[in-house]
Amino acid sequence: MIKYRVKTTTFKPSNLDTQSEFAMIELLRKRRSIRVYEDRKIEPEKIEILKEALLRSPSSRGINPWEFIFVDNKELLKKLSKAKEHGSEFLEDAALGIIVCGNEKRSDVWVEDCSIASILVQMVVQSMHMGSCWIQIRNRMHTKEITSEAFIQELFNIPRHIKVESVISIGYPAEIKPGVLKEKLPLKKIKMNRF
Ligand SMILES: Cc1cc2nc3c(=O)[nH]c(=O)nc-3n(C[C@H](O)[C@H](O)[C@H](O)COP(=O)(O)O)c2cc1C
Repeated sequence: MIKYRVKTTTFKPSNLDTQSEFAMIELLRKRRSIRVYEDRKIEPEKIEILKEALLRSPSSRGINPWEFIFVDNKELLKKLSKAKEHGSEFLEDAALGIIVCGNEKRSDVWVEDCSIASILVQMVVQSMHMGSCWIQIRNRMHTKEITSEAFIQELFNIPRHIKVESVISIGYPAEIKPGVLKEKLPLKKIKMNRF
C-alpha cells in the first residue's frame, strides 16, 4: 500500500494581517455565537442594513429563492423560541429573529442559498456590534411528531413549498466570548494539492 505523506499548509506571518482593509478577517477572528442578549431594541437604520445584507446575498443562478420574515414582536418571539425541543429557547430574549426560508419550487439549491444569506447577515450583525446565533430548523423536530419547520409554517402561515432553513436570533450581547485563538484552529483540515 502506498502511503502518502500529507502536506498540510501552514500560517505564514504577513503584514497584510494588520491592515484595516482586511476587516472581514478581523470580524471572523472575533466571531462567536451569542445567545444572551440585553433588553435593548435594534435601531431602525440597523434593521434596514440587515435587510440590505440579506438581499445582497449571492444565490445560484441569481434566482434568489429566499424569503425572510423579521420577527420583533415579543409574543411571537416567545412562540418561535419553542420551535425546537432544545437550542432555540434563547430566542425569547432576542430583539429580533429572522426566519430564513427558501422556495423549493424555484431552486434545487435553496439550502445553500439560504445558508449563505444566514451567515452573511450574522457577519453584518457583528460588524454593527451586535451578536447573533444560527438556530437550525431544517431537519429538526419541535416534538416527536411535528417538525420545527411545520411548527413555524403553521405559526406564520407559510405555504408548504416555502421551506424553513434557519432562524437567526439577534440582539445586543449580554455575554462576552473570546474569539478562537489562531493556534487552536484545526490547520490539519487544509491540505495542499491532494487529500
Ligand atoms: C448550521 C448551523 C446550525 C446551528 N444550529 C444551532 C442551533 O440550533 N442552536 C444553537 O444554539 N446554536 C446553533 N448553531 C451554533 C453552533 O452551535 C456554533 O456555531 C458552534 O458551536 C461554534 O461556536 P461559535 O459559533 O461560538 O464559534 C448552529 C450553527 C450552524 C453553523
